[in-house]
Amino acid sequence: MHAAMLAAFEEYRRWPNPSSALRETVEHTHAAIVGGGVAVLEEGGRVVGCVRCAMRPGVDVKLSRLAVVPASRGRGVGAALVRFVEEHGRTHGCRVARAEARSEQPDNRGWWVRRGYRVVGYEDVYGVPRLRTRLEKALTGP
Ligand SMILES: CC(C)(COP(=O)(O)OP(=O)(O)OC[C@H]1O[C@@H](n2cnc3c(N)ncnc32)[C@H](O)[C@@H]1OP(=O)(O)O)[C@@H](O)C(=O)NCCC(=O)NCCS
Repeated sequence: MHAAMLAAFEEYRRWPNPSSALRETVEHTHAAIVGGGVAVLEEGGRVVGCVRCAMRPGVDVKLSRLAVVPASRGRGVGAALVRFVEEHGRTHGCRVARAEARSEQPDNRGWWVRRGYRVVGYEDVYGVPRLRTRLEKALTGP
């Protein structure tokens, strides 16, 4: 899972402020699995996509580090992982799913918006104003 995440985020190494995902160690990934939760999609015994989730039952579920290895993109792996976590949240009474995207990557924000998320705010990161876009999707209703 760690290797898949690194492969997915590698394209962002050239950013002025590269994603902190690229600094993560296997121990960080292990801590995320033990301390929160992850959804992983495997094909032929290899992890092709993964996402972390932190759930507050009855409140919300936060998705982070969504990653699909480059060779497996464009086949709905990312969308399937997100749907899985949203459904997991619904079964635990979560009313909202939350996600974040880098503001300098409008394609990423668009990816979430096409999956029903809406922009709810921005955060300053690394001293850069509004570098992070916060998104939410209601898990209640039709
Ligand atoms: C963002 C990411 C998770 C999407 O994963 P994915 O499995 O390709 O997602 P899906 O297949 O569900 O959807 C891909 C979209 O790109 C289109 N697409 C087609 N071919 C594609 C290709 N070769 N590569 C990527 N996307 C392609 C799909 O049609 C779809 O379009 P839509 O959003 O209009 O429906 C993946 O690109 C990734 O890991 N990126 C690097 C890490 C990252 O940015 N994570 C998100 C942090 S917010």
